Amino acid sequence: LWLITGIRRRRPGEPPVENGWIPYLGCALQFGANPLEFLRSRQKKHGHIFTCKIAGQYVHFLCDPFSYHAVIRQGRHLDWKKFHFDASAKAFGHESMDPSHGYTTENLHQTFLKTLQGEALSPLIETMMENLQSTMLQSGVLKAKPSEWQSDGIFAFCYKIMFEAGYLTLFGKELDGDQSIARQQAQKALVLNALENFKEFDKIFPALIAGLPIHVFKSAYSARENLAKSMLHENLSKRANVSDLICLRMLLNDTLSTFNELSKARTHVAMLWASQANTLPATFWTLFYMIRCPAAMKAASEEVRRTFESSYQKVDPVNSRLVLTREQLDNMPILDSIIKEAMRLSSASLNVRMAKSDFLLHLDNNESYHIRKDDVIALYPPMIHFDPEIYVDPLTYKYDRYIDENGQEKNCFYRNGRKLRYYYMPFGSGVTKCPGRFFAVHEIKQFLSLLLAYFEMELLDPDVKEPLLDQSRAGLGVLQPTYDVDFRYRLKSH
Ligand code: HEM
Repeated sequence: LWLITGIRRRRPGEPPVENGWIPYLGCALQFGANPLEFLRSRQKKHGHIFTCKIAGQYVHFLCDPFSYHAVIRQGRHLDWKKFHFDASAKAFGHESMDPSHGYTTENLHQTFLKTLQGEALSPLIETMMENLQSTMLQSGVLKAKPSEWQSDGIFAFCYKIMFEAGYLTLFGKELDGDQSIARQQAQKALVLNALENFKEFDKIFPALIAGLPIHVFKSAYSARENLAKSMLHENLSKRANVSDLICLRMLLNDTLSTFNELSKARTHVAMLWASQANTLPATFWTLFYMIRCPAAMKAASEEVRRTFESSYQKVDPVNSRLVLTREQLDNMPILDSIIKEAMRLSSASLNVRMAKSDFLLHLDNNESYHIRKDDVIALYPPMIHFDPEIYVDPLTYKYDRYIDENGQEKNCFYRNGRKLRYYYMPFGSGVTKCPGRFFAVHEIKQFLSLLLAYFEMELLDPDVKEPLLDQSRAGLGVLQPTYDVDFRYRLKSH
């Protein structure tokens, strides 16, 4: 019977299995409704590792953080590429970027490391700082009388500023000597258009990853294709100040791949998504929690003031040229902790690997489990982010959780008296760790620094409730709020 119904029977030496009640879907609905609660209840029942059938796939959830390295460091038997390449091709509609499929010989991982880290980082953050300032201080964000209070939703505000600045930083500006008002307005319209298309497409992203075809979603499909059209190489090559990432990807698309022009453009839409989809909600939660906590606001403002003062910079919105070097950004432990704490509370990315062959997985407690070829092993970081033994009062926001007694970054966290190697994982782990993580943290720090330097800010309702996390994206990254929260801001008088 179990053969006919597709239900797996546990073999000796394998983790306990939950087939769920529904054929094919298995536990997908229970998992999707509240992943953390579901996994905790199964962990209580089964222990450190158990297997759930989710949408036809058997997934082994590993819940013991001391055993994480068995998966993160386990190179030989586990494949991380298949998942990423399949997911990207499915969502963005380009041909496979897996070199073994024969459409390209580009080593994407190398492209990312070369253009988002090391020496590439400084020019990237320099451009971002300029773009953030011009976006933040432009008309539309500021009122005609900038000393007047202006209200907005925090998410809407973060979206507007971070999307535009991030988009211009990666994809450059139109290459056109004509800097007339009309030209600037056309430039602005292009970015706003991209923002609307991005939002429309991003809404259905979880459905695409779950396997629904994009053609079901007419407006999201045309939004994605509009984005792609704007990123055809013939259009991108007319832009100035394009980032190393996109320049190199264009070159390698043209020289190492057999993609057609539309497919090349769709790979750039994938880059836009990767650079924005997590950053936007992460910026929201960081700003929301900070504004709501007077102690966090005070400590952050002082750190920002100290940083600008130590490099003799004057805050002047009319002549806005504040600079933060990489070294300065690396030396802001309070903002660092504020960002980490917000992401601890809001990120929910599932780390997955696929078994390339049958093998034995060794856990920290000396137990071993048989894993079958093509099964998935998953780590769900919220299990550690909300573990009360690792983080006291895990549901409470504490802006200084990641600062030690010397005011420096805290990196010693314990469980049962044992020091943990993995206690904070919003960027994934091992080889699949987000290659843009340094840029991401730097750009959020820049955003906060500029806001705190130029503006006074307050919540419209100081007692506003914390919005719930929209669980429809659980597994995919930083979760969005279920509703926006209003705040008001105005330029400080300097
Ligand atoms: C992949 C998180 C910002 C570029 C990822 C992954 C996560 C992640 C969890 C997948 C790792 C895995 O599957 O195990 C985040 C978060 C961000 C952020 C939380 C912001 C707060 C950025 C930015 C960029 C970027 C700003 C680029 C400018 C990428 C790329 C990948 C990726 C290219 C795919 C890597 C690959 O498949 O090899 N990110 N990310 N990310 N991220 Fe980020």
